[in-house]
Amino acid sequence: MEKRKIGIVGCGAIGTAIAKALIKDLSGSARLAAVYDTDIKKARRLAGALGKKNIVASSLAALIKASDFVVEAASAKVSAAIAKKAIEQKRDCMIMSVGGLLGNQSIVALAQKRGSALYIPSGAIGGIDCLKAHRLAGIKKVTLTTRKPAQALRNAPYVLQKKIPLENMREEREIFRGSAKKAISAFPQNINVAATLSLAGIGKEKTMVKIIACPDAHANIHEIEIESKAGRTFIRCENTPSADNPKTSYLAILSALATLKQIFMPVKIGT
Ligand SMILES: NC(=O)c1ccc[n+]([C@@H]2O[C@H](COP(=O)([O-])OP(=O)(O)OC[C@H]3O[C@@H](n4cnc5c(N)ncnc54)[C@H](O)[C@@H]3O)[C@@H](O)[C@H]2O)c1
Repeated sequence: MEKRKIGIVGCGAIGTAIAKALIKDLSGSARLAAVYDTDIKKARRLAGALGKKNIVASSLAALIKASDFVVEAASAKVSAAIAKKAIEQKRDCMIMSVGGLLGNQSIVALAQKRGSALYIPSGAIGGIDCLKAHRLAGIKKVTLTTRKPAQALRNAPYVLQKKIPLENMREEREIFRGSAKKAISAFPQNINVAATLSLAGIGKEKTMVKIIACPDAHANIHEIEIESKAGRTFIRCENTPSADNPKTSYLAILSALATLKQIFMPVKIGT
């Protein structure tokens, strides 16, 4: 079988880890064909570290042209546009900045029309397998409770607008409760998990989100509760931050790699 030609948009923590894994673990089924970053120095640095200086693309269009599978690891501001452009050119794509897809669900219809595959990894959470199975029985509720270090929430629009004091906290405190739709505009830096749950489950209006600020936490903790006729599922993920970008969970990087492995390997385990 011909090797898939992979193009990576965004050469930060996730893009770099994927590029390295493609060369180290997935070289039998895929080839890193192009990398692109709006910060050209980052793309050059990554390509240089891999000994593949000629793979730096000068534009998104050039990256899409050189690839048949586009990996987005850039930003929620551009993920929908990247997916659209890739799918219009009949490329498959994997999107990490899932939040950007929520308001742009026409992309799913476009992928179906063009026959392209659109992959959305579980990212920083577990339980998407259960959620998809529960969905077939009719879901009663999906609740995400996210605990974050108070410092990491300091600049969120909701915190600034409501003037929520996060300094000198002694104990954890719930600072937000509402739909995923509201959470996404209130905490745009923390939207991927709520967005992935919404897309896989009952949508952004019905998926409920609680955000708890913790004075002592060093990691993000996500608890997911799902209820349907099939029973109740409760999952808790205590995530270690990535060494390259503390805002990104190491688990999210591994989830991207595991998704690629699942795509390229003939045996697929899990829902
Ligand atoms: N699905 C999940 O659960 C999950 C978890 C963690 C992170 N993420 C998302 O994945 C994305 C990548 O995360 P990361 O930790 O690698 O971030 P990062 O900040 O380390 O890297 C992002 C890179 O993308 C580049 N970039 C930004 N806009 C771009 C554009 N328009 N075109 C090309 N490159 C662009 C930046 O210059 C940077 O090098 C982020 O949007 C993040 O929110 C998703």
